[in-house]
Amino acid sequence: MQVDITLSPRVNSVKPSKTVAITDQATALVQAGVPVIRLAAGEPDFDTPDAIAEAGINAIRESYTRYTPNAGTLEIRTAICHKLKEENGLTYTPDQILVSNGAKQSILQAAIAVCSPDDEVIIPAPFWVSYPEIARLADATPVILPTLISNNFLLDPKLLESKLSEKSRLLVLCTPSNPTGSVYPKKLLEEIADIVAKYPRLLVLSDEIYEHIIYAPATHTSFASLPGMWERTLTVNGFSKAFAMTGWRLGYLAGPQHFVAACNKIQSQLTSGASSISQKAGVAALGLGYAGGEAVSHMVKAFQDRRDFLVKNFKEMDGVKISEPQGAFYLFLDFSSYYGSEVEGFGIIKDSESLCRYLLDKGQVALVPGDAFGDDNCIRISYAASLPTLQAAMNNIKEAMAQLKRAVPV
Ligand SMILES: Cc1ncc(COP(=O)(O)O)c(C=O)c1O
Repeated sequence: MQVDITLSPRVNSVKPSKTVAITDQATALVQAGVPVIRLAAGEPDFDTPDAIAEAGINAIRESYTRYTPNAGTLEIRTAICHKLKEENGLTYTPDQILVSNGAKQSILQAAIAVCSPDDEVIIPAPFWVSYPEIARLADATPVILPTLISNNFLLDPKLLESKLSEKSRLLVLCTPSNPTGSVYPKKLLEEIADIVAKYPRLLVLSDEIYEHIIYAPATHTSFASLPGMWERTLTVNGFSKAFAMTGWRLGYLAGPQHFVAACNKIQSQLTSGASSISQKAGVAALGLGYAGGEAVSHMVKAFQDRRDFLVKNFKEMDGVKISEPQGAFYLFLDFSSYYGSEVEGFGIIKDSESLCRYLLDKGQVALVPGDAFGDDNCIRISYAASLPTLQAAMNNIKEAMAQLKRAVPV
């Protein structure tokens, strides 16, 4: 008897990650002994700060290893409320906080909790790869709003207004942004809030996971802090990026109790509470001081030096368009003037995927095609790597690009 291997339409609607192909190729090259420089990862290259790691180790030693309440321990939810008050000017009570296994889970649960079939999730592009797929998993339709590099990849409020309707349920904002590093200025967020206020069905999912990785003079504004927006904003944050805790799997959602309770219900049937050990570590992270104190500012300083190095070098490179990132640890560069170039022994560079494949083959540098983030003109470089590594990568990229003749003169 043949097994029916049909998959659910929900799974079939989700696209596989386009980054997987290039990552697999990079891994195969490394295994074959090729010294590939990997700048594709979305995680800090730093270790989790000692004080945080110690708290996790102590939790294990003290047998703090049982289930916690589904929403997270009162201890961590109280610490999160305190952080949101002090750093973001947001007032929440612990029952308005839900701690999850990473911010990604918080986003998925929020989308599932509020979206009905045929609802639209509005996503500015370039976007973090998971947003459209999460919208699909929630049976909603992603509506992608393109932005321009010349406008620092910031959403044009007029475009937003023109795309909103009764179907619009969730607007996803990510600031500082993955993949562009753009930071939404307060004034622009206020303009967006004025538009959002006209649509009673519309909620905002504000992904603030990179808030601490920000370079002066840019400053972070929490969307929920804007007049009238608290009631309709689901604020997502987490520990992965600022505290170098990607493997601890800890994130959270803050919002009106009605929505948080719905997400709590979903989580209770999905994963239950986050790891007890990670929650103890999370409390220690929030105890490090304002914006993570010295431990985090030291990492941010290193990210800023690396950003400055890369920005300077790419600005000098012919035919590359750049929007100087104000936060996160990515550079999203427009290399489209090179599309159409032919290289002997490789073929034609026709899009971001073939360019990344070329840079991997010839430059031995692994980057992510912009296509994966909804902008095929660009490629993403993660500068979560040491300066010497970035210097070596830069040399390789320059050498590989020098072999290409631009098809479209700039
Ligand atoms: C913009 C953004 N949001 C959310 C996440 C998810 O973070 P985590 O699930 O590790 O907390 C990431 C991770 O890459 C991200 O870049």
